Amino acid sequence: MNASEAKAAVAALFDKTAESYEELGVEYFAPMGRALVERAGVAPGERVLDVGCGRGHVLFPAAAAAGPRGTVVGTDLAPGMVARTAEAAADLPWVSVALGDAAEPDFPDGTFDVVLAGLVLFFLPVPEEALAAYTRVLRPGGRLAFSTFARHDPVFGGTVKALAALCPPGQGERPADRFEKPEEIRALLTLWEAVEITEVPVETRFSDLDHVWRWLWTHGMRGLLESIPTERLDEAREAAYAALSPAVEGEEVVLRTRLRVTTAVRPG
Ligand SMILES: C[S@@+](CC[C@H](N)C(=O)[O-])C[C@H]1O[C@@H](n2cnc3c(N)ncnc32)[C@H](O)[C@@H]1O
Repeated sequence: MNASEAKAAVAALFDKTAESYEELGVEYFAPMGRALVERAGVAPGERVLDVGCGRGHVLFPAAAAAGPRGTVVGTDLAPGMVARTAEAAADLPWVSVALGDAAEPDFPDGTFDVVLAGLVLFFLPVPEEALAAYTRVLRPGGRLAFSTFARHDPVFGGTVKALAALCPPGQGERPADRFEKPEEIRALLTLWEAVEITEVPVETRFSDLDHVWRWLWTHGMRGLLESIPTERLDEAREAAYAALSPAVEGEEVVLRTRLRVTTAVRPG
């Protein structure tokens, strides 16, 4: 798959998840988005770009922090995400949402005080190019804040492995994560100042194993599930339940994720 095919596949995947994304009564992306905006320190009146805005779990906390004297622009590749988030932002005249590639933000130089990227940079084939573009659209002294995963719950990792084992050979493999280690992140940010990397624990509670199964279809994990032949989906669900069983606590299933938040300043 070449870069433009990979981009189209990511857009199509998230388009399918757009309706149900964070809509199953599970708090997963919302606390992560709030943590990112808090660490970015978005202030009233600031001009903010949120790339890969999805359903706005970074965008809306940023809009609240920037306030009506600010400007908040969200972009995403998936039309379904853009349409729903634009509709949800209709009463916030300082917020706009449009189709756009996080790898190539199409704005004049120095447009923004802050660029935010929540759980999106690891989808980009060449993150270096995106980071260079963010230095261009930020004003001197502007801030970048992005989130990646520091550590998935080991039970979640085991579930992914069990599901990947049911995919045909060559499918279900995830591309290498360029953001896995803090030192790899720092190596991508050598031209930035004041790089800070922190971790945020996020606990996600599900009412039962079936709730987790339905949730897996509502975000990026759907790509893995769609690689499993339809006739093996019952087997996949059983395998997921077995892998998830250590996370059952009383009536609930609890996953504990560590989000990693990186902040950096564009040299003045
Ligand atoms: C895991 S979701 C995160 C959404 C949101 N930032 C949040 O924190 O909830 C990833 C989002 O990035 C979008 N995305 C993936 N690659 C992208 C790209 N190259 N440009 C813009 N958006 C992209 C997807 O469509 C999806 O909405």
